[in-house]
Amino acid sequence: MAIDRPTFPIAAAFPGELRAPGTDAGHAQTIGGGMVGDLPEGSMRRVTHGDLDVLIAHTPGGVVAIDDRCPHMSAPLSIGDLDGCVVACPLHEGRFDLCSGEVVQMPTTGGLDAEGAYHPTWSPAGKEPKVDPPGRKAEARRFTRVRRLRYYPLRIVEGRIEVDVPAI
Ligand code: FES
Repeated sequence: MAIDRPTFPIAAAFPGELRAPGTDAGHAQTIGGGMVGDLPEGSMRRVTHGDLDVLIAHTPGGVVAIDDRCPHMSAPLSIGDLDGCVVACPLHEGRFDLCSGEVVQMPTTGGLDAEGAYHPTWSPAGKEPKVDPPGRKAEARRFTRVRRLRYYPLRIVEGRIEVDVPAI
């Protein structure tokens, strides 16, 4: 059965526990996220406010805003690839579902997930297995935690995207 989807862009719902700290009323400030008409479904843009880079992505579930920093090692997700709800990081093959906040694929470097469980290094099909670097570099990989995505609430007002971020 076909799923009815609105034909106009909407702000995506996200798990409440993944709301970014400092974005509740009284603490947040609103920044412009550009015109939603210039952000067709499947596209992303970066908006910068002070030293905060925000990724705005138009997914099949609606428009969503998170840090433009991979939850692994902070690479800009805005230059990754968006396929449906899933954004692929330009480094280390990490893939993240922007509609649910879930990690779809851990980075090739392995490490800890948000709960602290260890995941080993891995290699994409057809590529030589990665050899762990010796010493502290391997330790750093092992102890690097893929954090949870944090969402900035947003609204679409007369075609403009308004994003609530912590006040600076
Ligand atoms: S920085 Fe994104 S997967 Fe490593």
